Amino acid sequence: MATVSFKAATRIYPGGDTPAVDKLNLEIEDGEFMVLVGPSGCGKSTSLRMLAGLEEVNEGSIYIGDRDVTHRPPKERDIAMVFQNYALYPHMSVADNMGFALKMQGVSKEDRAKRVMEAAKLLGLEDYLERKPKALSGGQRQRVAMGRAIVRNPQVFLMDEPLSNLDAKLRVQTRTQIAELQQRLGVTTVYVTHDQVEAMTMGDRVAVLKDGLLQQVDTPLALYDHPKNKFVAGFIGSPAMNLLDADITEGGAKVGDYVIPIERTILSKAGSDRTITVGVRPEAFKVADKGLPVHVAVVEELGADAFLYGTAEHNNEHQQIIARIDARMPVEKGSTIHLAAVPEKLHLFSTSTEERLTA
Ligand SMILES: Nc1ncnc2c1ncn2[C@@H]1O[C@H](COP(=O)(O)OP(=O)(O)O)[C@@H](O)[C@H]1O
Ligand SMILES: [Mg+2]
Repeated sequence: MATVSFKAATRIYPGGDTPAVDKLNLEIEDGEFMVLVGPSGCGKSTSLRMLAGLEEVNEGSIYIGDRDVTHRPPKERDIAMVFQNYALYPHMSVADNMGFALKMQGVSKEDRAKRVMEAAKLLGLEDYLERKPKALSGGQRQRVAMGRAIVRNPQVFLMDEPLSNLDAKLRVQTRTQIAELQQRLGVTTVYVTHDQVEAMTMGDRVAVLKDGLLQQVDTPLALYDHPKNKFVAGFIGSPAMNLLDADITEGGAKVGDYVIPIERTILSKAGSDRTITVGVRPEAFKVADKGLPVHVAVVEELGADAFLYGTAEHNNEHQQIIARIDARMPVEKGSTIHLAAVPEKLHLFSTSTEERLTA
């Protein structure tokens, strides 16, 4: 096992004018499950491939434990990678697929068989060892790809969207299995996904990337409760946080005719901006007698909860609003209701810099 450190690691692809990964600083603890998350093209795979030695590091460095591996070839890094498409050898049995890397390392046939069997047991693959990949389901192939990484007993697991080829239900089951397995094995893991729900449910910590730049790294709950900027606020959480550019007034900020009370000390930090970006999670709106008038478009009933989708009028524009409401509360489509934001649950951001504002 080992720590992993990215130290201002940068990747500029030939012909690229901006870095795909720009001075990434990230310290991953021994045994930690670190998730890299962000929209497509933000540099997740590039970061992982730099750690794997599959992509050149143009500036900065990467350490595994206390070894500087920045310019070491992949085979000297003691890592095992699970790819999105699994990259199984079609003509080899499951057992041979799982043991292939060990065979290349010159591990004896007996030891290979033993380690393959151990991994197969962990993954529930004992009965499939003689099958070829084409005779397996998607979920089983995914486990073979995991098994191939496990038998190598590496210092670090790297996984690049390993669940994206599975259907939605299997993806949910498998993400729990991977998280449990990682915890049991205690191997430092760097896991890439574009799916923030996957990131939040699996990671000990989550690193959010955008345009090659690390935005914030923290535990799932800390990201949810204290997003550092507007991007993280909108990216983490489902349904997404409402982000309203409200007009700054005496003692608060105004959306339509509704004034959201905000402390003066925070308002003063908005500088010369005339608006402040108010973030309200769907659960931080309450139906009230007075509040923001919202025209109800759809109510999504989920049994325990319901999500209300509607619009509010603000500066002659329709502003989309999402609120979580009590499922037993009768709200009619096409009606207008009033929503008040719970003051202690507000997230406030500078409209110009998009950074979080605090008192
Ligand atoms: N081999 C490559 N050559 C040139 N540009 C690349 C290459 N691979 C990725 N990129 C670019 O680098 C950026 C980051 O890509 P990538 O790391 O694959 O993003 P992600 O995995 O987050 O979707 C994107 O703008 C992408 O177009
Ligand atoms: Mg990718």
